[in-house]
Order: sequence, then C-alpha cells, then structure tokens
Amino acid sequence: MTSFRPAPAWLADAVFYQIYPQSFADSDGDGIGDFNGITEHLDHLSWLGVNTVWINPCFVSPFRDAGYDIADYLTIAPRYGTDDDLAKLVDEAGRRGIRVLLDLVAGHTSDAHPWFTAAAHDPDDHRYIWAPEGRPAGFVESPGPRPGSYLPNFFAFQPALNFGYARPDPAEPWRQPVDAEGPRANRRALRTIMDHWLRLGVAGFRVDMASSLVKDDPEKSETAGIWRELRHWLDGAHPEVVLLSEWGDPEVAVPAGFHTDFFLHFGGPSNGLALRSLWSNRSGTVDEAWDPLDCFFDAEGKGSPLPFVEAWQRASTALGSSGFISLPTANHDFSRLNCGPRTAEQLPAAFVFQLTWPTLPAVYYGDEIGMRYIPDLPDREGSVLGPRYNRAGSRTPMQWDDTKNAGFSTSDEPYLPVDPSPDRPTVAAQRADETSLLHLVRRLVALRTGTPELGPGGSVEVLNSGYPFVYLRGGRYLVVVNPQRNAASCPYGATHATRPLETTGVRIADGTITASGFGYGVFDLGR
Ligand code: GLC
Repeated sequence: MTSFRPAPAWLADAVFYQIYPQSFADSDGDGIGDFNGITEHLDHLSWLGVNTVWINPCFVSPFRDAGYDIADYLTIAPRYGTDDDLAKLVDEAGRRGIRVLLDLVAGHTSDAHPWFTAAAHDPDDHRYIWAPEGRPAGFVESPGPRPGSYLPNFFAFQPALNFGYARPDPAEPWRQPVDAEGPRANRRALRTIMDHWLRLGVAGFRVDMASSLVKDDPEKSETAGIWRELRHWLDGAHPEVVLLSEWGDPEVAVPAGFHTDFFLHFGGPSNGLALRSLWSNRSGTVDEAWDPLDCFFDAEGKGSPLPFVEAWQRASTALGSSGFISLPTANHDFSRLNCGPRTAEQLPAAFVFQLTWPTLPAVYYGDEIGMRYIPDLPDREGSVLGPRYNRAGSRTPMQWDDTKNAGFSTSDEPYLPVDPSPDRPTVAAQRADETSLLHLVRRLVALRTGTPELGPGGSVEVLNSGYPFVYLRGGRYLVVVNPQRNAASCPYGATHATRPLETTGVRIADGTITASGFGYGVFDLGR
C-alpha cells in the first residue's frame, strides 16, 4: 500500500459540524442562508465546542441539486456572499479554533457549466463522457449541436466528468483510458480547484460521491489511483489539510488517500445505522433507510448494536492508524436523528453513544437541539427524489429562537418552511435550560475533546452488546446506553468505585448495571 504522510494531528480531535448553508442563518433577509449568517452564529458553534465545520457546495450553480450542480468552481454563489465574506468566515472561525471544510464535487458539473456547453458543441472535447452516436444505456441525449449522448453522474443535468474507464474499449470510444487527454485535464482541474480554495485558508474538503470518478471500476482501484495522486500532492503542498469522503466504505476510501470516510446510510452494515434502528428485524435495504424510524437501535427493544459494532471492528482493524471513520448524526440526504414519533426520547442516549464511540463524530446542524425531520415537504432544489426519499425534511431552517421564522430569516419566504410545531426546539430556549439536549451535547463534546481515551485512538471493549449497550473506553471510561423505553440491566463484575461524569437513570450496584428507559451514563473508573 502506498504510504501517505500521517493525517494532521488535529484530525483525531475533530468534532465535525455540517452546515447546509441555505438553511442555517440568513443575514440579508432574502430567505436563503449566507456566509455572514454563519459568521454571526459562530459563537454558537464555539460555545457548543465543535471544531471543524463542513459546508455544502457554495459555488455558482443553477441550484437544481442544491448546489451539487456547479457551473463555476472558482466563484462563490452570490446568494452566499463573496470571496471576502468566505475569507472573513474562515478567519473568524479560526479565531475560535474552528476549521472550515468546503465541499468538492469532483465527479460531475452542472449542464450549465461552460465546460459542458463547449463540449456540447465540439466532438473533439473529452471533458465529459460522450458517445458519438446513439444513446447507450444510462446516457442522456446531447443537448447541443454535437451528436450522440453523454453520461450523467446523478441527475440528468449533472454530466459526469470524464476520468476514464477502468476497462477501456476502443469499440466503445467513450470508454477512454484513465490517462487519456480528457481525464488528465480533469485531474489537473481538481488540483486547481482545491489549490484555489486552500489558499483562502480552508482546512480541506468533504468530497462528494468520491467513489464515482472512474467508470466500470468494480474494485475502485483506478478511482483510488486518482485520489492517491491528489493525496500525495496535498501531503507535499498542503500537509495540514484533510479530505473527508462521501464514499461510505472506509476500508477502501482511506487506502485510496482519504484521511477519513463516513459510515453512511447506503445500506449494508457499515452504513451509519448505529444511529438508526434498521438492523433490528429488518433487512436494511436502502429503501427502508428512508423510512422514519427510531434514531438509535430499536426503542421497543428489538435491536442489537452488534451489526454496527462488527462492521466498525472490521473497518477499524483494516485501517489501523492509517485514517479514521466518521459517524454522522444525519446529513442533508438522510433523515435527521429525530425522525419519528419515538425518536425524541432516544436522542440523549444516541448522542452519548456517538460522542463516546471511537469514530469521528459529525453533528448535522440542528441535531444538537433535536430538530425534527419534517415529512412530506414539497421539492426544493432537487430535494425530493421520490415518494419514499424526501430530503427536504432534513433541510429545514435552523431554529434559533422564537422570533419570525425561528430567527432564521426575516423574509416572508424562507428557503423551506420552518418546523410548524408549536413546541419546536430552539437554541435560545435550550441554552436557557441546563437540562436540555443542547447542554448535554455540549458537555459531551467537552468531555470527549478533553479526554483522549474517548477519542478515536482510545481502546474500546464491549461489555454488553444488548440492552443496555455497555462499553469501556481506554480501560477507564464506562459508557452505558439504553435506547429502549423499558429499563434494562446486565451483570457487571467490577466492584471498584465509579464516578459518574454524565448520567441519567443508570445505577451500578451489587454486580449489576441497571438503566432506566432511555437512560445513559458515562462513568470514570479512575484506573
Ligand atoms: C451526494 C450529495 C447529494 C447530491 C449528490 C449528487 O450524494 O450528498 O446531496 O444530490 O451527491 O451530487
């Protein structure tokens, strides 16, 4: 395996916070969030203790896929502000010890990108994957004078950039080798884009659909080759920055050059569903992942953490110290933690688990106050992909306070409707209440960042893999999580004293750990 420079030291302590910029804070009253809005709320993030923010794409775009359809990689979308506003955000965040990552959409552009317009006019242009005649399966008819069709990467209006095919075939001329002229130009372009924003001071990138670059690449070896090349370049030119992939398979993504990869909700055991209940009596198919379900293993007691633990164990053993696994509470594509009638009560235990497990936690904006997934919203910027896959519900405006639009915007037409529920949670109300979820998350973040044993480098020993879920971190910190509504207990052999650091409803006595419904605890064994 090619060796890389070790990840920058700061990454092991990272607590990510994802901002969907449309919905976070609107400073100019146009109904859409912006950089200055984020800057104005950096004190919230610094109070919460998160130290690395990642922001969804914020570049010029027709916004048919919320900005994942980029028309100019090097220019900020005017709705978010200017380069100077971003520079100010990065600078103000840096003063608070917060790094900023941007989103690199590497695999495709918008069909409004000038590269695509040029390609649609020029049969000799190879930036995209273009069949000279006809329409092979999956291709979309040419919109321009150039005959033939092109390959999209996601929506039809997102033409795939040409990084070549792992198995080129001269009989199908669009299946070019990875070192053909078009793929080489696109690889150079990625470097130019990254270099441009890194010079402004960002600390790296979340990389969109990172595994999608080379086509017909079943082992992903050619795609990995591209990322490895970029990582080697970064290791030399920008050694303090990180690449965080949307790949969903850390065992492949980290050797490919990513410093960390998400466990994602793509189905299968390694899919981040530790924070859902899908492994309970369900098959875990992708479709089910989009049902509103319990946010953590099953509230009715039918779940088990084992599929997650085993998937984590496998990936973690494969990675060793070469990189990290990131575990998001949710993201802009999948339902929030609080996504069903039974989930609100599970949130504290879910956060105790997420913030004490040896993965890098990523908090999706608003999850720290338990914002709800809002079902059945109409499409906004490509958010609704089908009756069972509505992303709008996870993208509603951040709930700051009790003023108009929950303090998100003064506009009469906010980007998406604010949660209409009269008892919707807000940052202001929860800050004023020390028993709130927000305060708990803050204390847990502080505990984690101040306790190396709770980070990704500390050992973990699972002591009970049912209800309650019990594990020991770094031989010293005992974590008890009972995400079901009924009380649960398990034997516990140790007899020494335990100092509670954070607990509700957990009792350790007479060789037994007893946890009330939805109870949790973190204890210091002081060894
Ligand atoms: C990623 C993004 C998603 C987007 C898609 C196409 O999965 O997270 O929001 O629609 O890529 O770019």
